[in-house]
Amino acid sequence: MTSPARFTILSLFPEFFSGPLTCAQMARATEAGLLEVRLVNPRDFSTLRHHHVDDRPYGGGPGMVMQAEPLAAALAKAEDDNTERGVPRGRRLVMAPSGRPLTQALARELARDVCSGLPLTLVCGRYEGIDERLIETEGLEPVSVGEAVINGGEAAALCVLEAVARLIPGFMGKEESGDDESFSAGLLEYPHYTRPEVYRGLPVPEVLRGGAHAAVAKWRRRASLARTLARRPELLAQAELDGDDVEFLRATHLGAGRPASLGRSLFICLLHHPVLDKAGKPCTVSLTNLDIHDMCRVSRTYELGGVFIATPLSDQRELGERLLGHWTEGAGGRVNPDRAEALRLARMVESLEEAILRVTEMAGVAPRVLATSARTHQRPPRGRKPRPLTFTSWPRVRGWLAEGPALLVLGTGHGLAPEVFQKAHAVLPPLRPFAAYNHLPVRAAAALLVDRLLGDTM
Ligand SMILES: C[S@@+](CC[C@H](N)C(=O)[O-])C[C@H]1O[C@@H](n2cnc3c(N)ncnc32)[C@H](O)[C@@H]1O
Repeated sequence: MTSPARFTILSLFPEFFSGPLTCAQMARATEAGLLEVRLVNPRDFSTLRHHHVDDRPYGGGPGMVMQAEPLAAALAKAEDDNTERGVPRGRRLVMAPSGRPLTQALARELARDVCSGLPLTLVCGRYEGIDERLIETEGLEPVSVGEAVINGGEAAALCVLEAVARLIPGFMGKEESGDDESFSAGLLEYPHYTRPEVYRGLPVPEVLRGGAHAAVAKWRRRASLARTLARRPELLAQAELDGDDVEFLRATHLGAGRPASLGRSLFICLLHHPVLDKAGKPCTVSLTNLDIHDMCRVSRTYELGGVFIATPLSDQRELGERLLGHWTEGAGGRVNPDRAEALRLARMVESLEEAILRVTEMAGVAPRVLATSARTHQRPPRGRKPRPLTFTSWPRVRGWLAEGPALLVLGTGHGLAPEVFQKAHAVLPPLRPFAAYNHLPVRAAAALLVDRLLGDTM
């Protein structure tokens, strides 16, 4: 790289950067001509008395808001200076808790830009933030450094600057590289050890002392996988894994440290009454063989506590008992023991009330009743306006499952009747809430709902 990677930071407190930019690698990279950081203070561009740059928010509320004009003038001056030096315009980020998260992928993207000669501008907010019209009219890209609010954009800009700068060739020196670091392969980094060989009775892992290259690489890969599973399991969904990785993760997950399955707290009730018909009137729907099989298989896969098939019609309950008997203790169960294992979770019951009673007996405490709906509003009696449903959140329900039993109620026909919502403690949000077509079969909905609540993260 012939010219340095260029950064411009707009900040009301340029002195904030004097420490970080004048020590360690940042200072060395600047001296070596790898890096150039310009600091511009928007206060210098205020045309107001006392160089004010903020004012009260429209609409009221606490705090002050940074005005657009001084920031726009500071941006224009910084870019004019670059143009005079033959430097083209590059990306401009504004530090904001509501922005796109700073990730290693974004850092790499930005590093590619600065290494190809495009400058990077970082705008730091203060107070309550910046007048939104500056962000809109200048096309600034909001970037966040975490889901916590800090005093100002300076510390955030420094994070972006360091994350990008250390990817500039030559910045880290030959012996170091970003290739193995956390997030580089979508995983957290393995742990490090140095001398002494034994510290407070803890030895360095044997394999790392042996120095066999392939064995060390394998140990590190597994340590990365185990650490990611323990600390940030959601990252595994994005990581590129092979079959050995997945086997290792499964064994680790099933090993000693595995938390008790939340699934045991969850029960399903498939209601055939009271549900709505096409016209929105309460009705009773007949059993569907496939629903029973598939809901039981889902429940066994996710280790649920049980499945209740509720119908007030005694002949339908008898039919259900015969079917369950065939697939558990009868001929079906003998030829297909896997199916028997799943269908043993099912019980025929008369009503939702009976299902609640059965769960209470099994769990020793009454379950939270969770209604489900594909709709956003309750279907009203004729002549009345539809009433919006109030939904709980997925994380809240996961929290409830850790505390005690819950009964997930699914309706056949055209969904649960209004009286079921009245009995429920909470309503789960619809699946695919933004889709125009939302008519999932009840057994598919059950599988998706259960996976949202209990699914593995990869
Ligand atoms: C006190 S904060 C304003 C917070 C704002 N009222 C809100 O609730 O989103 C002042 C400035 O700090 C910066 N800032 C605070 N937290 C940040 C974060 N997590 N990521 C990036 N910038 C942040 C932004 O530039 C922001 O304009």
